[in-house]
Amino acid sequence: MTTAKPTPATFGPDLLAWYDAGHRDLPWRAAPGRKADPFHVMLSEIMLQQTVVATVMPYFHRFLARWPDVQALADAEREAIMRAWAGLGYYARARRLHEAAHHIAHDLRGVFPQNEAGWRALPGIGPYTAAAIAAIAFDQQAVVVDGNVERVVARLFAVAQPLPAAKAQLRELAASLTPASRPGDYAQAMMDFGATLCTPRGPRCPACPVAKHCAVAGARASEYPRRTLKPPRPERLGQAYFLTRPDGAVLLEARPSRGLLGGMTGFPLSGFDGTVPILPQGVTWQALPGEVRHVFTHFGLTLQVMRGVAAGPAALSPHQTWTRPQALGEAALPSLMRKILAHATNHSGELA
Ligand code: ADE
Repeated sequence: MTTAKPTPATFGPDLLAWYDAGHRDLPWRAAPGRKADPFHVMLSEIMLQQTVVATVMPYFHRFLARWPDVQALADAEREAIMRAWAGLGYYARARRLHEAAHHIAHDLRGVFPQNEAGWRALPGIGPYTAAAIAAIAFDQQAVVVDGNVERVVARLFAVAQPLPAAKAQLRELAASLTPASRPGDYAQAMMDFGATLCTPRGPRCPACPVAKHCAVAGARASEYPRRTLKPPRPERLGQAYFLTRPDGAVLLEARPSRGLLGGMTGFPLSGFDGTVPILPQGVTWQALPGEVRHVFTHFGLTLQVMRGVAAGPAALSPHQTWTRPQALGEAALPSLMRKILAHATNHSGELA
């Protein structure tokens, strides 16, 4: 196969022809010839940071059904937003989404920023998200670079330098390809292409609409992007405290708004981050058999689950509440806390 160095004039039209012939129909995308709603684009892009489309979809629909516009989201209670976000992970995103909505609805009087720099000035909107919103909602020629785009560009140009050092070079190459015509569709075409054909493992080169522009189409594609080996993920140990009252109610607490699982609800934790749990006095704790494992981006966590029963009326700290077991299902627990609940439920019968 002959490969020609890709340029906006050659690569863009081939990629867009593929996109036009059957792109994914996603709810935040505008119908052909229509403009996308900036609120829908902002919400979807913040949800899609670190999370795949299939996971985001039900959350996106639920958020819009409950908070149909930026004003409604800005005026929502922070706790309601955190609860609706439960299970989506990276909870600081929910807090920052609320802050950004508040900024737009109140400081900007409901007028969305009209360009990349304006979006970049909002809380929690980084370079990727600002560029994606400017391109998708305003059809501006912004350079949208996420992990998908880095991978596609590294392959097109057979970039020898490994990531993360290659980031600046990959951005420059991505900029050199971004077309002036239909930049919003182009940005989404790159996302679809990276998610469905030019995938990290097992790229589908025989079906590729832009193989003729690619330096490594075929067997070598999966060797790109090259990467410097990362140090192994650190491992941390800790404890979770599952405390019940004689009537079956379970102790839950609201976590501080910053830090791990910030602003979310769950069982008291200790050990791994140096914080000391505030627990009612006079409880005898027993370690349940087995452990709970959860992997965060920056560390792996193994927790021992401590089981206790409060004998009398225990004094709680202001962030703690007793929750009826029937209400635990609706308590909007993040995934780690759901694992702890399942572990405690399955193993409490094994204690002496
Ligand atoms: N990933 C991030 N943003 C996306 C979008 N707008 N469409 C599809 N996948 C995405």
